Amino acid sequence: MSTVTEIINTRSSIRKYKDQPIPEDVFRTLLEAGLKAPTAANKQEIHISAVFADNAVLQEIQNDLNPNAANHYWYDAPAVLFLSGPDAFKWSAVDAGIAVENIHLAAADMGLGSVILGCMEGVLNGEKKAEYAKKLGFPEGFSFHVAIAVGYPDTEKAPHTFDFENNVTIL
Ligand SMILES: Cc1cc2nc3c(=O)[nH]c(=O)nc-3n(C[C@H](O)[C@H](O)[C@H](O)COP(=O)(O)O)c2cc1C
Repeated sequence: MSTVTEIINTRSSIRKYKDQPIPEDVFRTLLEAGLKAPTAANKQEIHISAVFADNAVLQEIQNDLNPNAANHYWYDAPAVLFLSGPDAFKWSAVDAGIAVENIHLAAADMGLGSVILGCMEGVLNGEKKAEYAKKLGFPEGFSFHVAIAVGYPDTEKAPHTFDFENNVTIL
């Protein structure tokens, strides 16, 4: 097991996966990583809908997003987790973002790769919103915020560079 700092320093988004299922206990740990994330006022309301690659809803979303895209938006990962939160709570999007990063870091720690996904937001919150909310098992009054594709990586990617001076102000 690595330290959190080591994982933060070495992780990157993975967009190519092995055709290898995720063991049940590892998958459970990933879901729990999302649930263990801090939430505003400790609401713990973020809902995770776990969808496996053989579920037709993934392709249906693809068809509504872009049927002619070069890649599936989930990059053929064995599983995709869709995070939704209550519309009535102003911190839902932030809570979902923190939960998805917890999952991303926990995945890397367990030798998995993952990529956070937002490109389907317009489809999931668009005119078929109610239909997709039902298909994905979102609780009543919840909207999609973010998703994450997870699986065993079939590629390596160096961490991104950054511009410390431009992005940080130390007063
Ligand atoms: C909120 C959010 C939404 C994202 N949506 C997508 C997406 O739809 N598709 C995709 O391939 N990557 C997506 N990404 C991954 C970013 O493209 C990626 O984090 C960024 O290019 C930096 O690369 P790195 O994570 O490897 O450092 C998303 C990341 C975040 C945080």
